[in-house]
Amino acid sequence: MSFPKGFLWGGAVAANQVEGAFNVGGKGLSVADVATFKKDLSVEDYAGHNHVSTEKIQYAMDHLTDDEFPKRRGIDFYHHYKEDIALFGEMGFKAFRMSIAWSRIFPTGEEEEPNEEGLTFYDNIFKELKKNGIEPIVTLSHYEMPLALAVKYNGWYDRKVVDCFLKFSKVCFERYKDYVKYWLTFNEIDSIVRHPFTTAGIIPDRCPEGKELEVIYQGLHHQFVASALVTKLCHEIIPGSQVGCMLTKLTCYPNTCKPDDVEKTLKRNLDNYFFADVQVFGKYPPLILKRFEREGIHIEMLPGDLEILAENTVDFVSFSYYMSLTEAVRTDQETTAGNTVMGVKNPYLPSTEWGWQIDPLGLKISLIELYDRYNKPLLIVENGMGTKDVLTEDGKVHDPYRIEYFKSHFKAMEAAIEEGVELFGYTSWAPIDLVSASTSQMSKRYGFIYVDQDDFGNGTLKRYKKDSFDWYKDVIATNGESLN
Ligand code: BG6
Repeated sequence: MSFPKGFLWGGAVAANQVEGAFNVGGKGLSVADVATFKKDLSVEDYAGHNHVSTEKIQYAMDHLTDDEFPKRRGIDFYHHYKEDIALFGEMGFKAFRMSIAWSRIFPTGEEEEPNEEGLTFYDNIFKELKKNGIEPIVTLSHYEMPLALAVKYNGWYDRKVVDCFLKFSKVCFERYKDYVKYWLTFNEIDSIVRHPFTTAGIIPDRCPEGKELEVIYQGLHHQFVASALVTKLCHEIIPGSQVGCMLTKLTCYPNTCKPDDVEKTLKRNLDNYFFADVQVFGKYPPLILKRFEREGIHIEMLPGDLEILAENTVDFVSFSYYMSLTEAVRTDQETTAGNTVMGVKNPYLPSTEWGWQIDPLGLKISLIELYDRYNKPLLIVENGMGTKDVLTEDGKVHDPYRIEYFKSHFKAMEAAIEEGVELFGYTSWAPIDLVSASTSQMSKRYGFIYVDQDDFGNGTLKRYKKDSFDWYKDVIATNGESLN
């Protein structure tokens, strides 16, 4: 048997993509509540369409309905959580990765006291998970922060936000210490360079001309410091707790063996590793510091910041993996979309309808690379395939393509474990259909459970098991033996 005993099989979601109830229970507006649905978006636009302006934010604040803003309604997990967790329990989940909406606990981020109704909501979720024998893995910041902090401070650019986040995290640790052992600080911390608003509340038109990148890296530095301080706090408040970083693993191959392509690829991969390097090794990589110097990027650090990073590194490394990319110096090649990134198309790989190239071997390669680099236990916290599923008249969804996708990726995990990689869990993205992070579509479906709702919010919200539901249940019940 390759998968270790106690392997954490499960699924992952984010509060802003499932909960809905954006104005219920005292919740404040969050940055996710600004995201609008883009109809007929072309594949090329997925990578960059998240850009937000002061004007769009004002519009969102003036229009307090969910009509144009699908993340405000999610899949109404807020009212369906018992039913949904029961379905996860039926599949035999050992773990469930979720996030706590900061704006449910501190609606503007700056209240003195937390919002009790928000805290109670998560109490109930954790109780329900416990009842179903499911271990929570909690992300403190998953593409969600109080909108008020973005507007007032330009998000994480301002050091003040570090204190607000510490206050929020402390409340979470103290309140949920009996329920939650595994914590992640920032989801895909590297994504700050791709969509600074969604990740860190940084509004591009509020950045001084030509200084957007400097503002972003300053915000990132604040997140690094906050992540380290929160790791320390978590260890102090919850003995035996485990804190992980979370990286978008953007595995990139040279498009050809031309040394120029190889060099460009190397740089792209190092740029990706940088974000986890800081949290695992506790320091900025020298090559990155040199790059900042070359590009005139100055980062304000307070005395003691570097010590904070060095003294509070993470316990494990978690990551998302959906696809691989290729890189080339030639600029006339066909490109393909990916997890809010673009790459040169790999002729050897098939693509999803959204242009993400399917590469299970790339997952094995990623596991080996990460384990070799960090020597830390690994946790896959996102992996899956967005498709346009069809609910047939008999109330079924036949999704052999999803089974095929997962099977090939699980085999790749098994192979990596056999080669010695320490992988202790896997949470699929996502066990239930939800609102897409990048496009706000509902029609980009990831789940083992179908949710009857379309892109415009029409539907009964009824849940249906897809064929993949029973298949995954079997994989979990046999700890992966059924794959063979
Ligand atoms: C990851 C995010 O990058 O990709 C998730 O952490 C997101 O929040 C997932 O949902 C899939 O991306 P998308 O855009 O298809 O929802």
